[in-house]
Amino acid sequence: MQIITTKKDLQAAVKVCKNEGKTIGLVPTMGALHQGHASLVQKAVEENDVCFVSVFVNPTQFNNKEDLAKYPRNIERDAELLSSIGADFVFAPTPEEMYSEEELNTTFAFDFAGLDKVMEGKMRPGHFNGVVQVVSRLFYLVQPDKAYFGEKDFQQLAIIHHMVERSSMAGTFGNLQIVDCPIIREDSGLALSSRNERLSDSEKLTALAISKTLFDSLKWAKSASVSEVQQRVIDTINAVPGLEVEYYEIVDQSTLLPTNTFHHAIGCVTVYCGPVRLIDNIKY
Ligand code: PAF
Repeated sequence: MQIITTKKDLQAAVKVCKNEGKTIGLVPTMGALHQGHASLVQKAVEENDVCFVSVFVNPTQFNNKEDLAKYPRNIERDAELLSSIGADFVFAPTPEEMYSEEELNTTFAFDFAGLDKVMEGKMRPGHFNGVVQVVSRLFYLVQPDKAYFGEKDFQQLAIIHHMVERSSMAGTFGNLQIVDCPIIREDSGLALSSRNERLSDSEKLTALAISKTLFDSLKWAKSASVSEVQQRVIDTINAVPGLEVEYYEIVDQSTLLPTNTFHHAIGCVTVYCGPVRLIDNIKY
């Protein structure tokens, strides 16, 4: 496995693969890798001739400086895991390598067709501008055949699909296929997340109420309305000391707009567990 830190070396490696007629899989990450990421990389290794993984804590998608500073980083451990799974190239640039100073200091403009106005987009202004900025740059540099993203960040995935559909009209990303990968959970039900590293043992136990409530809500949905289920999820989680719901929205899986039917619906939750902001979702 080769670790690359510059765009120039990345493009040179991609060129060699393309010249050899190899298919390329890309897994964009911000590092602090866990078994959720490992499952994406495994799939990318299986489905492509070559697997590139980016490890880059993208500053332009953090609307909160403290969150950026506290984001866990451990490139040595990440590299060990990636090499054991069979990734071929790791791209780990600095922010200055990735962006010009102007790009680092201005919000990337993009037409989200409203997908950024709800949930994470509403709570974290500018977050998805940064996500689209970095992901489109990675797609441009790596020219992958397939790119892999987890469904835990469901709104991010919907926005990336939208971005690729829009730009493939203009031919930018060729036949790039976005591969949606299911949430990986601990046996306890807790959705794997790099942010879990910031939870104490007791907070980790407290956080279990989030996934448990989401799973219980599948049963509630059999005999209650969308708004009743929504309220019951919020009340149940908020009743647990140490947890505070920021939002729980039941939305259509394609438009991300609130829906009053469970057909094609997904419930997306954000909860503060102490100081740590956790997200999870459940499909109805
Ligand atoms: O999901 C993430 O880890 C990030 O948002 C991504 C897609 C790697 C872009 O920085």
